[in-house]
Amino acid sequence: MLRYPEDFPPGPNYSISPTLLEIQCSDFPIVKVKTPSGQTMWLVTKHNDVKQAFMDTRLSRSLAYPGAPRLRGDDVTSIGGCILNLEGDQHSRVRSAIFPLFTKKAIIHWSDQLQEWSRDTLRYALKATDTIDLVSEYAQPIVAKLCSQTLGINARELAEIRKLLSAQASLVEDPQCIFRATREILSIAEQLLNQEAPYHGPLSPIRNAWKSDRKISHTEATGTVSMLLFNLVEPLEAPIILGILQCIKNRSKIMPITEGSIKAQDHTHAWSRITEEVLRYHNNGPTNLPRIATSQVQLSRQKIEVGDPVLTSSLAAAWDSRAYHRPSSFDPKRRRRDSIWFGIGRHRCLGAQFAHRAVQAAISSFFCALAERSIETLDTLPQSVTRIKRESETNKVGFLFHPKSVMVRIT
Ligand code: HEM
Repeated sequence: MLRYPEDFPPGPNYSISPTLLEIQCSDFPIVKVKTPSGQTMWLVTKHNDVKQAFMDTRLSRSLAYPGAPRLRGDDVTSIGGCILNLEGDQHSRVRSAIFPLFTKKAIIHWSDQLQEWSRDTLRYALKATDTIDLVSEYAQPIVAKLCSQTLGINARELAEIRKLLSAQASLVEDPQCIFRATREILSIAEQLLNQEAPYHGPLSPIRNAWKSDRKISHTEATGTVSMLLFNLVEPLEAPIILGILQCIKNRSKIMPITEGSIKAQDHTHAWSRITEEVLRYHNNGPTNLPRIATSQVQLSRQKIEVGDPVLTSSLAAAWDSRAYHRPSSFDPKRRRRDSIWFGIGRHRCLGAQFAHRAVQAAISSFFCALAERSIETLDTLPQSVTRIKRESETNKVGFLFHPKSVMVRIT
């Protein structure tokens, strides 16, 4: 039986694991894998099956109870009240309470801000040199600025929070450590919810739903903010770094698309298409978080029995040739489809539009500022990583792989 994650190293240029692709293309696209908790889970890789699993209410995300299936230890899936772990009426109630965080107005505001910060970050990094580390001098400072402006977290606090998030989502850490990290993150979430102006702005819908309107409980408010903390700090960095690398590699493909658009609106649209392809190509990690079957479910030819844990791979689904023409080709002109990388159905990513606009702001600002310059990467990314022995070999928090450093020269 395959072991997750050891047998699922990233593919060339940190793209999809060859093992995932092999399973997905085979006659048996659903296989059992052994996770670091010692438990066995079904791994679902085919686009249609992943979509069905996301939508099927019999595959429940309600796993906060003690002894529930875990990847390794008591990570985010163990947090009672966290939106991700709720189902039914409770989930709908919490989801509608935090929905106002992601209004169109808020998304436009933050994406404008992100464009400005991205330009400033690049200008600062290139002040006295023609080389820049895309990780520590571009993606990370942009995310740090986002955290400081939205949640009031300073650089020192962010460094501590990163360590905790890394421990919480670790697949190799001692389970006791994972448990402690989760508790500490919950206590930070509590502090964030209780802090005074000006930083409570973006979190005020959750604060009001808890304290004023009493629509959600204290546990639901803190549990959900603890997950938002992870989502704000983590999943944006990998697509920014790997997206810029893809665009450098495929500059001849992206230039005609962006240069051909004369009107500002068309230009934004062109970058949105490029970002969509970046997210398809480099989304998430090898798998999503576990679900559990509450009734017997059939996916493809496989019967999933009551109590069986299920892991979907939205990354594998986004590389399924039954759903995407030549999925291994980075093609920003690709015909649009469902954005399975943000999930589908009741748990679909609430930050999807925000995340898309944030990644787009960082990538487009980079290339628009350097339109007249030549850009070359100085590092050769590994063509393949044969086995993942230690998480420290790559910069990985939980699910998302990206190189630790990527030096780029601008001339
Ligand atoms: C490129 C970045 C991101 C990707 C690929 C991504 C992907 C996903 C996926 C696949 C799910 C569904 C999980 C499931 O059904 O098992 C999800 C849920 C969620 N995401 Fe994201 N996400 C991203 C960024 C963000 C950001 C920036 C935020 C907010 C700041 C966010 C907030 C959420 C929330 C609140 C949920 C839970 C929704 C629910 O359970 O009802 N995500 N995300």
